[in-house]
Amino acid sequence: EAKKIGVLVGSLRKASFSRAIAREIVGMAPEGLDMSLVDIDGLPIFNQDYDDEGRTPQSWVTFREKVASFDGFLFVTPEYNRSIPPVLKNALDVASRPYGQNVWAGKPSGIVSVSPGSLGGFGANHHLRQVMMFLDVPMLQQPEAYVREVASLLDDEGRLTDESTRSFLGRYVAAFDRWVHLVSDAR
Ligand code: FNR
Repeated sequence: EAKKIGVLVGSLRKASFSRAIAREIVGMAPEGLDMSLVDIDGLPIFNQDYDDEGRTPQSWVTFREKVASFDGFLFVTPEYNRSIPPVLKNALDVASRPYGQNVWAGKPSGIVSVSPGSLGGFGANHHLRQVMMFLDVPMLQQPEAYVREVASLLDDEGRLTDESTRSFLGRYVAAFDRWVHLVSDAR
């Protein structure tokens, strides 16, 4: 049975390179993975008072339920100042609370970092690993995926034109597929 995978993109930009890469990966999803993009726009910045005072934003409720409904996650993110963009961190924080109700826990995941620069978003990739380790998420360790110089890999419509990157991402998603099923079978 296909596993439901939520794909979270750490950018809200219309012409986001990261979203372009995420779309390509969704397009090459193997039979075992039912992948779909998850919207993280419009979630109010986390403030515990909203939960404590019984005025949890509806968008948080919906997002927490949505996260709980997936079997695993793929994070495709740019790097901001050597870390992850706040919009992604906020989404992670929102669905990690209220205390004891972390809905990320136990769900097999993978990370693809994306950058127009030459370091491939290494800082964001590893900061995200640290956060997800604390959130008890079994994270694919190998292969790692750092998509660098991304602007040179895409055409004007944001389609991936670089064949070696396409073949790498194909191998990455195949390994991710095996990881998701391995962890799911063990649970
Ligand atoms: C960046 N950018 C960036 N790139 C990088 O490789 N390492 C970094 O630390 C940063 N820092 C950074 C901070 C801020 C606030 C912004 C807005 C941008 C550049 C970034 O990779 C570039 O804008 C990408 O195009 C963003 O990803 P999307 O929106 O194209 O997916």
